[in-house]
Amino acid sequence: MTIEAAAQAAYIVAALLFILALAGLSKHETAKAGNTFGIAGMTLALAATIGLAVAGTLRPVDLALLVTAVVIGAAIGLYRAAKVEMTGMPELIALLHSFVGLAAVLVGWNGYLHVEAHLTGEEALALDGLGVLGIHSAEVFIGVFIGAVTFTGSIVAYLKLSAKIKSSPLMLPGKNFLNLSALAVFAVLTTWFVIDPQLWLLVAVTVIALALGWHLVASIGGGDMPVVVSMLNSYSGWAAAAAGFLLENDLLIVTGALVGSSGAYLSYIMCKAMNRSFISVIAGGFGIEAGPADDKEYGEHREITAEGVADLLAEASTVVITPGYGMAVAQAQYGVAELTRVLRDRGVDVRFGIHPVAGRLPGHMNVLLAEARVPYDIVLEMDEVNDDFSGTSVVLVIGANDTVNPAATEDPTSPIAGMPVLKVWEAEDVIVFKRSMASGYAGVQNPLFFKENTAMLFGDAKDRVEDILRAVTERVGAR
Ligand code: TAP
Repeated sequence: MTIEAAAQAAYIVAALLFILALAGLSKHETAKAGNTFGIAGMTLALAATIGLAVAGTLRPVDLALLVTAVVIGAAIGLYRAAKVEMTGMPELIALLHSFVGLAAVLVGWNGYLHVEAHLTGEEALALDGLGVLGIHSAEVFIGVFIGAVTFTGSIVAYLKLSAKIKSSPLMLPGKNFLNLSALAVFAVLTTWFVIDPQLWLLVAVTVIALALGWHLVASIGGGDMPVVVSMLNSYSGWAAAAAGFLLENDLLIVTGALVGSSGAYLSYIMCKAMNRSFISVIAGGFGIEAGPADDKEYGEHREITAEGVADLLAEASTVVITPGYGMAVAQAQYGVAELTRVLRDRGVDVRFGIHPVAGRLPGHMNVLLAEARVPYDIVLEMDEVNDDFSGTSVVLVIGANDTVNPAATEDPTSPIAGMPVLKVWEAEDVIVFKRSMASGYAGVQNPLFFKENTAMLFGDAKDRVEDILRAVTERVGAR
């Protein structure tokens, strides 16, 4: 068997392993196996690609450069993956998407510089007659466009997720017009470039796409960022597929299409869960215009001490805990698990209510609670618990904010209006654990904090949970 045939066979096996990886990652129980399939597929793909390159026209100096690049890339990747906190995952993923976008831009430019830029008039005419040149030029142009949109879009997502820029949506006048014009100009320039591949056209599309990617993601507000991350994941897949066409690499086309379509489907599911229009989010907040500034008077909030919370819990028959991003920041899940155990031992019915976008990753809270060994059967999805709050004695909101914001259901002008939330305010008493009166990720004020049955327990969530545990155990010991 020739090296080429072996490499093609390896590509097919790698593509199958990637499909198995996606299937595995769709369930908790099989996620680890899915990850292993993914790693095996990628190792095989890399080995086959390097093998192909070596068997081809690769000079020793190119091989040395290739190996050096792979070693440096792998070392940086391993270092970052080992160091990253769970709360920092989304921004790391956004940054990685930007690399895929940049790679697609470079592959596109490289394709142009190798083919279109070097053709003599006669060659160009001959290729044109076969239609090959036109196809190549279209691949270059489209690949550069998708790649550049993904590149800057992912950088803005990274900056927003890591709080380096504000997460509120950018509201340029006529923003929908700007996006649509960019798409129309892209269509015109593509036709032009296919007919006559001139350098300035490629420069123009690169600049337009970089600006469009920036604008699309900058226009999306904080609450919709989870969808944006999965959408950029999808774009990065299509960018890789476009690069695959240019490099004539079938595996890259298949893998890109897998990532592109699964990312698009995840975005769609998340939009449905958050009651958002899919088209509006992928089109950079299309149709969403600036609402009135929030200058409402919400009144006074009430504070409570850890001892006060222990008193409430001593009288409670049912408790629901709704964790959020703050529990992850404080690493309070172990104390929360211990408090759950103590209360359950005393006959209190304790359950957890998990919002689909609580924290910063899909399933973020479930992972933390599983890590702290909270039994699965008391960890419920939002829909399973949302009708039970009216019969609940105490709700402990631990570092959650947007996901328990009544403005989403009560105020149609709110930026998060229509997003389903945990209706914690229907319980007898609500205790909110946070460090200040600051707003949550979406930057929206939360009227829950000012409701009569709500009390704020300020401080780091881990310290406060430990204070409550101490107060509860002292009480039990004193009896
Ligand atoms: P957030 O709205 O982000 O609020 C978290 C709260 O935790 C903050 O108000 C903060 O208040 C508090 N906090 C932070 N550190 C704390 C600490 N050490 N101790 C106590 N409290 C602390 O949380 P959420 O309700 O989980 O909502 C998630 C938000 O993130 C949504 O808007 C969602 O759209 C967005 N998002 C989600 C994802 C996914 S996929 N889950 C991805 C990207 C974005 P203080 O600063 O006052 O303490």
